[in-house]
Amino acid sequence: MQELSLNIMDIAQNSIVAGATLITIHAACHGDRLAVEISDNGKGMSEEQLAHVTDPFFTTRTTRKVGLGVPLFKMQAELTGGMFSIDSQTGIGTHLKAEFVTSHVDMIPLGDLNQTILLLITCNPDLDFVFIHDTDETTFTLDTRELREVLGGEVPLNDPAVTQWIREALEEGESRC
Ligand SMILES: Nc1ncnc2c1ncn2[C@@H]1O[C@H](COP(=O)(O)OP(=O)(O)O)[C@@H](O)[C@H]1O
Ligand SMILES: [Mg+2]
Repeated sequence: MQELSLNIMDIAQNSIVAGATLITIHAACHGDRLAVEISDNGKGMSEEQLAHVTDPFFTTRTTRKVGLGVPLFKMQAELTGGMFSIDSQTGIGTHLKAEFVTSHVDMIPLGDLNQTILLLITCNPDLDFVFIHDTDETTFTLDTRELREVLGGEVPLNDPAVTQWIREALEEGESRC
């Protein structure tokens, strides 16, 4: 995986598999630090699962024996001299935080984070997403619960006109790290 946004996609996919109905993705760029937090209200992990989740050989999937999403996210952060943490509670949800030092030579490209968010929303129109992007100058927030309220339950979040609106909102809110 070459781009951080694809890794974020993979982490959000874990939340979806865990039955989350609300997933928050918070990216904060301050100076040469990029903090990415992903939290969900999915089924969470037991203490035992949690203790092994950063081990690449741990997965509850049966299709292959190696889980890579979480270990990669951790490794990519730590390679830059950043940090990683994960908390989870059964029946409550999971929270991951990775901090990257963006000036470090091992920092991977961010990729297209807006496209990742757009894909997550349009591919999962029944789930809610909160996307927060902070920089030193601005804070951008997109909350699909608010959008849903405005749309009034008749128009799905993956309606082409809504997708276009979300794309434009993300582009307008775009502020490079
Ligand atoms: N947000 C989450 N909620 C519940 N369980 C999770 C979550 N993220 C990861 N897990 C657990 O950790 C395992 C490893 O995740 P990951 O490293 O992404 O590999 P994979 O998704 O390929 O199994 C998953 O199989 C799942 O059991
Ligand atoms: Mg995964």
